Formats: sequence, structure tokens, C-alpha cells
Amino acid sequence: MTDRYILAIESSCDETSVAVLKNDNQLLSNVIASQVESHKRFGGVVPEVASRHHVEVITLCIQDALKEADTKAEDLSAVAVTYGPGLVGALLVGMAAAKAFAWAHGLPLIPVNHMAGHLMAAQSTADLQYPLLALLVSGGHTELVYVAEAGQYKIIGETRDDAVGEAYDKVGRVMGLSYPAGREIDQLAHKGQDIYNFPRAMIKEDNLEFSFSGLKSAFINLHHNAKQKGEELPVEDLCASFQAAVLDILLAKTKKALEQYPVKTLVVAGGVAANQGLRERLKEEISDVNVIIPPLRLCGDNAGMIAYAAAVEYQKGHFADLDLNARPSLAFDSLE
Ligand code: KG4
Ligand code: ZN
Repeated sequence: MTDRYILAIESSCDETSVAVLKNDNQLLSNVIASQVESHKRFGGVVPEVASRHHVEVITLCIQDALKEADTKAEDLSAVAVTYGPGLVGALLVGMAAAKAFAWAHGLPLIPVNHMAGHLMAAQSTADLQYPLLALLVSGGHTELVYVAEAGQYKIIGETRDDAVGEAYDKVGRVMGLSYPAGREIDQLAHKGQDIYNFPRAMIKEDNLEFSFSGLKSAFINLHHNAKQKGEELPVEDLCASFQAAVLDILLAKTKKALEQYPVKTLVVAGGVAANQGLRERLKEEISDVNVIIPPLRLCGDNAGMIAYAAAVEYQKGHFADLDLNARPSLAFDSLE
């Protein structure tokens, strides 16, 4: 068998990343150029700034990823690229680079859904067995996904309003923490107590939906009212209380999903899967299924995860023409 090398490109938000995956399971390189420092002073990602940064570094990232993998363009079998969901301008930069590279070297183009990438990052930890359930938690998404077989993703529950990561970043901003605030809140939470008893929306309802906007508002109101009275609430306790509410909701809905979809494997992925509190609670409370969480470096946005998802699409022969367009609101069930 000749070796199969996939070059993958990710640029859906504020990370420009290029990876090389060998034979579907050996990640030879995963170069990540983060723009987070440029967005910090705005307290969030500025789409126009993101696109410009991607343009500046994408070619270098491709070169570096090939070099680090000790691979040449002639060795490659395909080029994979994230085509949604994400910021349209940001997506287009990675797609233009991927198309140009594919065309110049006569390679097939594999379109990859960013959320499928987050999920398939788990393949780096274990050979995934299907059917499986996934809890995907990132800055833009919070969803429970049923995967009947490799590449068949079905959303069975999602957030009605804010994504978990988005809620972390917003309350972080209110507390004066820098963007993105998830990691710092997680660390502070470990030093505090859950004393504020924030609402756990829809936790008792028998559906698989999430809602985080009420929690976010309750947090902001508490913080605001205290400030008006000149009180300083302990930031560790605020973080611990916020995180306890988030984790109660995530755990409750995940358990409910596991009852409805009896599978043997649960994947937890996306930027928020880096959360130590979440990892601890999963370990303590979920024992009858195999919980697979990608390593920290594959939880945040990166092209390695896109390559793992692309390997499945390659097997299925899912290739795109060079007129492939960006799909900012791409959902799992849309056919392309
Ligand atoms: O998946 P990701 O890198 O980008 C998106 O596709 O959105 O996720 C980024 C999100 C941010 O909202 C960030 O605050 C959050 O993941 N995050 C965390 C932690 N590390 C990153 N949230 C909670 N705890 C963490 N340790
Ligand atoms: Zn992401």
C-alpha cells in the first residue's frame, strides 16, 4: 500500500493552521498561528482583522507544515479545507489557498465541516468505535451529536442562544479578564466556592437543548448590582459559581442523551473541552461509557482535527470541485 498524506487547512476563526496527516492516524505536523493577541484589545475576534492575518501567514504555514512533516507536495494524496461554519472572510482565505494548492499539484479537494473536525480530533486518542455520542463545546457551538457511523453526524440537541465558550468569554469580559477568558475562569474556579447559585436553565426539562443566556444575564446583573453598591465580589467565587452552573447543565444533558442513545463511546471536544473542571466531572460522573477527550493541543482550533475528519471523507470519496464556496452557517445535516 502506498502511504496516504493529507494536507489540511483551517482558517475559520482566529487561528491559521496547516497540518499533514499520514495514513489517517499519524499527525506529522500541525502548525498553528494564533492571532489571539491582535484580538485581545477588542475583547473578541474582529472578522476583518482575522482575514488580514490569515492572508499574511497562510503561505508560510503551508510551507512550515510540509517541512515539519518532511513531506513534499508530490507525496500528498489530497488537500482538505474547512469550508464552514465560521467567519466568511476568514474561511475564504484558507479555501483560496487550499484550492490553489490542489489545482497547482493536481490533488483532490476535501471539504470539511469545522465541527466534524473538533469531533474527529478524538481519533488521535483512540480508534473511534461507532455508534457514538459527542458533546461539542466551543466558542460558537454547543451541541450533542449522534454519529451512527464514521462521517454521519446528526445533531440531537443544541443551544437555543449562546454557546458555552461565548458565555465564558462574555462573563470574563465583565470581570475584566482578557479574551478568551475560558481558561482563566477555569483556573480561578478551582480556587473558589459555588456560593451564588446561578440558574441552571432547562436542566429538568426532558429535552437535549441548552440555554446559557439566562445564566450570563444573571451573572452580569449580580456583578453590576454589586458594583453599583461599591461592593467587590470575590472573583474566585464568581468563577466557581458560574462554572458549577455550566457544568451541571452540560453533565445533565449529556447524561440524558446517553439514556436516549445507548452507545459505548462519548467524545467530548471543542475549545471548552480543555476545561479541567469539565474533565474532572466527566471522570467522576460518567462511568459506563468510554469517554474520549482529545489532548489539549487538539481541543482548540487546529488543522490536525480537520485532517482527521478529512480522512473519513477521503475514504467515502467525498471531494469538491474548485467552485466550492464558504458556508458560514454550515450545519451537520446540510449536503454539499
Ligand atoms: O473551539 P475553539 O478553539 O474555537 C471555536 O471554534 O469557537 O473554542 C474557543 C472557546 C473560547 O470561547 C474559549 O474561552 C474556550 O473555548 N475555552 C475554554 C477553556 N479553554 C478555551 N472554556 C472553558 N474552559 C477552558 N479551559
Ligand atoms: Zn472551533
